[in-house]
Amino acid sequence: MVFDEISALCVRVAETASVPLARARSLPAGAYLSAGFYELEEQKLFRAGWLCVARVSEVSQTGDCLALDMLGEPLVVTRDAAGNVHVLSRVCPHRNLDMIALENGFPRRLHAAHLVCAYHSWSFEMDGKLRSCPHMQQAEGFAKQDWPLGEVRSEIWNGFVFVNFDGTAPPLVEVYGDLDELLAPWRFEEMQIVISMDWDCAFNWKVMVENWMESYHHIGAHRTTLNPIMPGQNTWTEPEHPFYVHAHLPFTAKFCAEIDAAKVRGDQPAGFMLIDGITSTQTKEWGLFVGHPFFMFLTMPDRLLWYRLFPLGAEHCRLQTMTLVTREAMVSPNFAATLEAEKELLRNFHVEDMEVNRAVQAGLKSSFARQGPLSHLEEPVWLIQRHLAARLNGGWPQRVVRGPYYGPHTAS
Ligand SMILES: [Fe+2]
Repeated sequence: MVFDEISALCVRVAETASVPLARARSLPAGAYLSAGFYELEEQKLFRAGWLCVARVSEVSQTGDCLALDMLGEPLVVTRDAAGNVHVLSRVCPHRNLDMIALENGFPRRLHAAHLVCAYHSWSFEMDGKLRSCPHMQQAEGFAKQDWPLGEVRSEIWNGFVFVNFDGTAPPLVEVYGDLDELLAPWRFEEMQIVISMDWDCAFNWKVMVENWMESYHHIGAHRTTLNPIMPGQNTWTEPEHPFYVHAHLPFTAKFCAEIDAAKVRGDQPAGFMLIDGITSTQTKEWGLFVGHPFFMFLTMPDRLLWYRLFPLGAEHCRLQTMTLVTREAMVSPNFAATLEAEKELLRNFHVEDMEVNRAVQAGLKSSFARQGPLSHLEEPVWLIQRHLAARLNGGWPQRVVRGPYYGPHTAS
C-alpha cells in the first residue's frame, strides 16, 4: 500500500516535471511530506550524487578533524600525515561505538595525533588505518590491516570537500568543470569562512533549495532588503545543465550608476574588498548556483556565500549559512567593522527566508494545498523538478529546448 502511494507520487512528480516552463506547476505536496518519498530521494539523489560536506580550510593541518552527520552516517573529515583529506566513518569497527559522539559533548572540530575510541582504546591513523588495539593477541586470525575505519568516497573541487556514498557519481571534474573558468577569479580554494550561522529548519530540503534558487520572492519576502537593488523581474537563468542550475541576479540600473559614480570618486564600495579579476558584469550582479541536489552557493562581487545542508527527514533539515572572503579582504583596514555590519544584514535576509520556508511547509500539510502555477521567473524551480524526476528514474536531466523566454533582461 505504502509502496503504491510512493509510486503514484513519483508518477505525479514526473508528470509535473515533464511540461514546458510556461505550463509549470509546483510539485505535489506529498513530495515534501512523505517519509517514503524522502527515503527514495535519499537513495536515488543523495547517496548516488555528490554532497558537499566541508571546506578543506576546516581541516587545514595534519590531525585536524571535523565531525558531521550526513544521511544518518556519523562521519569525520580528516587530514592525514601525507596531507590528504579523508571522509571516514566515526564508527569503531570493534564494537561499533561512535568515537566522536556529538551528543556526549565531543566538539565537532578537534585536532589530534590519532583517532582514539574511548571504549577500548583502539586507535586509528588519520587515513583510517587501525594503529593500535590492546590485548588482541589471542584473537584467532586477527590482523590489524583488516580493521580500518570505513571510508566514504570523497573528492575536492575548488576547496570544497564532497562525498558520494554509493560510488556511482561521475567525477567532480565532469560535474562542475564547466564552471571552473567562470568562477576562477574568486579563487574559491583560498577563501576563508568569516561568518557562520546555524539554522534548525522544520521544512523539507526542497523547500530550502527552491527558495534559494528563485528570486521571484524578492518582491514579497525581501521587499525592503534585496528587492530595491535586485528585483526578481531582472533575474534570468542559464540553459539547463545536467548537474547544476545557474541564475543571474543583476543590480538595478540605478544601483549600477551609484557603483560607477563611487568608483569615479575613488570611494571604497560597501562590503568587503572586491574580488580581483571579475568582469564588469560580475561587479554588478550576484551569481546564484545549486549543484544538484543541494550544494548551494552564491558569488557576489566581494564574497562567496555557501549553504551547507544536512537533510534529516522529509520535514527537517539542518543548515549552516556561511560567508567566505579572500585572505586580502581579511587583512584590509575596515574588515572588522564590515564583518559586524554584514552579520546583521545577512541575519535579516536569512530570517526572511526561514519564515517563508516554515510557512510553506505548514501550508503543504493543508487539505487546500495545490500545485500552483509557476512564473517564468521560477525557472530554477522547474529545473530542480526536472532533475528530481530524472534522478528518480535513474537518469540525468537533458538540456531542454526552452520556451519563448529567456536570457538576460535589461536591468531597470
Ligand atoms: Fe530569499
